[in-house]
Amino acid sequence: MAEKNVLIVVGTLRKNGFNEQLAQRIEALLEGRANVSRLYYSALPLMNQDLEDPERPEVAAVREAVRQADGVWFVSPQYNASFPGHVKNLVDWLSRPLPGKGRDTAVSGGMRATVSGAGGRTATAEMRAALDALLAFVGAQVMTEKETGIALSGESWMSGTLTLSPEDEAALSAQAEAFLEFIA
Ligand SMILES: Cc1cc2nc3c(=O)[nH]c(=O)nc-3n(C[C@H](O)[C@H](O)[C@H](O)COP(=O)(O)O)c2cc1C
Repeated sequence: MAEKNVLIVVGTLRKNGFNEQLAQRIEALLEGRANVSRLYYSALPLMNQDLEDPERPEVAAVREAVRQADGVWFVSPQYNASFPGHVKNLVDWLSRPLPGKGRDTAVSGGMRATVSGAGGRTATAEMRAALDALLAFVGAQVMTEKETGIALSGESWMSGTLTLSPEDEAALSAQAEAFLEFIA
């Protein structure tokens, strides 16, 4: 069977943040098992219905990447007990029908997704719950079991380098296995 396409969406815009490092771990885990690519979406304008028609190239590119994906894996920090605003902006764009076309042309409909995140004490639990709910609202099929939440260690916070415990590594592997099944 041909390898599935997994698109990774990193919810931090900063270079080499913890969630960027977590995304790199996920890419390594999926190597040889799926075609993995990244979604680059920082050029998306803030949602403004005046900008929807004609479709802008930045919006078309993001929609096309999601359309090509068998599964979309969100790897995001938690901002104030939810997901960052740019992630909401991305999902808002994905939730909109193509200009002049019917509602069912939104690429978020039927998108298969899963969520992970690295953050503070709550291991991004609030972000993951909020993002799961948002994705379900826009019609995605969300694999909510086996989500990985990483509570960053003191060592990680001090060094800026993501260190994962054996339990974290096992959880991430289990999520990868389950997601490959989910999109098969
Ligand atoms: C606006 C803002 C709000 C934040 N709110 C939370 C929060 O609710 N819970 C939490 O664990 N960390 C919170 N943090 C801290 C982030 O977990 C931390 O900055 C983390 O390094 C961000 O992820 P990144 O390294 O992948 O960019 C917040 C950070 C910012 C910038």
